[in-house]
Amino acid sequence: MSDGLKGIKTIRDFELKGKTVFLRLDLNVPMDNEGKITDENRIKASLPTIKHCLEQGAKLIIASHLGRPKSANDKQYSMEPVARRVGELLGVEVVLMEEPSSEGVKHILYGPMKSQIICLENLRFDEGETENSSELAQNWASYSDIYINDAFGASHRAHASIVAFPELMPKKGIGFLIEKEIKMLDGLFDRPEKPYVAVLGGAKVSDKIPVIEKLMNLVDGFVIGGAMAYTFLKAQGVSVGKSKVETDKVKYAKEMIQRIEARGKTLLIPIDHVVSQSFDDTKSVRTTKDTKIEENEMGLDIGPQTIQLFSKYLAGAKTIFWNGPMGVFETKEFSKGTFAIAEALANNSGLKIVGGGDSAAAAEISGFADKMSHISTGGGASLEYLQGDRLPGLEVLRARKQSETMP
Ligand code: 3PG
Repeated sequence: MSDGLKGIKTIRDFELKGKTVFLRLDLNVPMDNEGKITDENRIKASLPTIKHCLEQGAKLIIASHLGRPKSANDKQYSMEPVARRVGELLGVEVVLMEEPSSEGVKHILYGPMKSQIICLENLRFDEGETENSSELAQNWASYSDIYINDAFGASHRAHASIVAFPELMPKKGIGFLIEKEIKMLDGLFDRPEKPYVAVLGGAKVSDKIPVIEKLMNLVDGFVIGGAMAYTFLKAQGVSVGKSKVETDKVKYAKEMIQRIEARGKTLLIPIDHVVSQSFDDTKSVRTTKDTKIEENEMGLDIGPQTIQLFSKYLAGAKTIFWNGPMGVFETKEFSKGTFAIAEALANNSGLKIVGGGDSAAAAEISGFADKMSHISTGGGASLEYLQGDRLPGLEVLRARKQSETMP
């Protein structure tokens, strides 16, 4: 079990009036080819901390990465649309700096800032960010009084704005978004109400092994869908045709099935499928009668019998953790299974936590997002946290016990 928020200050612990607050956010939002934001959840989830800083009279600098640009010339990754949207949502002027280490910040800070936010350009436009550069960190520290991390989704990255910078700052803490994330995710370990069910999907078993291991002794049952289910079916000797199988994980899947059974827990895997001859072939789509998939077909979603089986089981759960879609939900023909899981969670009155990434997007698109107890803004970060890893972005903020700081 992690140390949760132990020893970490929150933004409430600081007097912000007149102080320069550097707020690291995760505003890494998806955009279409025209630079239009297609899901602004991460922006909206960041607003409470931004508003608090403004209400308390802080001089506010916000900063985030956006995508994975190769260099500062990758202008499609500019923070411009994001900065504009933050301004629109808050009704304040957001001044976008030309580069993450722009000296211009100091000039603005020395002037009378009123209802204005400074937004740094995409942090990854400076290679020092991903290199955890102390030089870049020093630049930011030269004008900041208080460092606040509210970028939960990036807190598993040892990058300059997440680690090197707060290392230099005596005054540092987290914002409201991270506080909520950790409290909700900790609820999955801290005496969760039973029955507790983990719904896992997505492409790869290998991505989920650490979290499966962590949950093995905690949950009462696993519900497995998505491409990873085919590895489990293969392990049971079922023919899965051309479905995606991680051949080197079949043995692990077999062992996992045995371990779950030995513990008297439930494991539900698909009993029928929506199949087609390839990902982009929506003409040869059909639903199988049973678990078996023909040689020339691949499973791309769970079938109606499986939906019924999974939904019935989930109706009896008191705690549900969901990570990973049940099929290729971006394509209409293969989306029913994933949306049915979102609906099953929506109809359940217990604690329902959705891990970030694809399942968060699926919950949004399904229209059931507001029925979830919590949808994490972190994809990789929430999985790493749940599997028991220490997130560098949190550890650097934790006050060390004296015995740990002594030589
Ligand atoms: C995410 O989208 O999960 C976070 O913003 C982290 O992005 P990264 O995987 O590019 O570091």
